[in-house]
Amino acid sequence: MKYAIETFDLTKKYKNFTAVNSINFKIPKGTIFGMLGPNGAGKTTTIKMLNCLTQPTSGTASVAEFDVKENPNEVREKIGMVPQAVSLYKDLTVRENAELCSDYYGIPDEEKNDRISNLMDLVDISYAKDKLISQLSGGQKQKASLVASLVHRPDILFLDEPTIGLDPTTKRVLWNLIRDLNNSGHTIILCSHDMHEVDMLCDNVGIINTGKLVAYDTPQGLKDSLLKDEKMEYEKNISHTLNEVHNENGGNLPINLSQNQDNICLKKMSFIIENQNEEIINSIKALKPVNEVKLGENNRINLKINSFDDDVVNDVIKTIISKNGKISAVSTEEPSLEDVFMKVTSEVDKDARA
Ligand SMILES: Nc1ncnc2c1ncn2[C@@H]1O[C@H](COP(=O)(O)OP(=O)(O)OP(=O)(O)O)[C@@H](O)[C@H]1O
Ligand SMILES: [Mg+2]
Repeated sequence: MKYAIETFDLTKKYKNFTAVNSINFKIPKGTIFGMLGPNGAGKTTTIKMLNCLTQPTSGTASVAEFDVKENPNEVREKIGMVPQAVSLYKDLTVRENAELCSDYYGIPDEEKNDRISNLMDLVDISYAKDKLISQLSGGQKQKASLVASLVHRPDILFLDEPTIGLDPTTKRVLWNLIRDLNNSGHTIILCSHDMHEVDMLCDNVGIINTGKLVAYDTPQGLKDSLLKDEKMEYEKNISHTLNEVHNENGGNLPINLSQNQDNICLKKMSFIIENQNEEIINSIKALKPVNEVKLGENNRINLKINSFDDDVVNDVIKTIISKNGKISAVSTEEPSLEDVFMKVTSEVDKDARA
């Protein structure tokens, strides 16, 4: 089996409203897939179709090699689900909920207790095993939900916003757990609004907006494509301006404008140079890929760099040191997954309004 999940024009309509619109993606087995999208984008509806909790209106999906329409029972045996709203029995304890799931999947009694105890230790909820779900905190409920969803050892685990409302320490516990589960062979589908979480954990990311898949790539691939798009947009604007100036001047181009063609910021850098002086600043300005140097508070220098190349960072540092500059802080900034998210979701909004 190459793919844990494959969708084929997967579509869900509620009356006239299309919640999921002909989505196609493939999730390689053994990977972590992140699903991003604004509120109401169609993430949970997609997951529900993959979990056989709701039927596609048209199209279909293969989950663990079984078709969600043709073989829903086989699909259910291969998957585990931690839903957006915890769906455990509130009047039963953590252990009782896990036992109920275990019985549902027909796990033999002699195995049941060991599996549940091990899982409760793994997610660190054993200390509350005899508490009712209604008595647990939000994070404890998430952990109890994980135990119940893992008891039948599913190949594929769906997590719908699992870390929402968790404190930073519990979040980290859950992130480590997701990594551990993935390392032991589970394919994981993670829906989240936490860009940092998705960037850090996921092998591939799909961005859904108004029911459509608008981007799919590795986190780095998405960021790189944003850089390329920005560069193309910049060049388009520059060539438009150049054409206008060209026409206005009867074919004569002012030299400085045409030289500006590659003045695009692809990376931002910031330095604190304790003994900053004019010689150091001028030598940084003289470096070709540096296209803007701004002096800030407390000896801070902010640079805009027009190159993808990491060697530029080295060149700037070497230049400062060669002028006996004492660097006490360096930082670089590249586009984040959040920048990609904002771009692709706002683009579709614009299209939808057009
Ligand atoms: N049972 C239903 N009947 C009618 N419309 C529904 C139903 N379930 C979901 N929808 C609609 O489908 C759209 C997608 O909802 P969905 O829950 O999949 O969004 P989501 O991406 O998970 O959002 P969030 O980030 O807020 O969890 C929404 O506009 C929602 O109102
Ligand atoms: Mg949702």
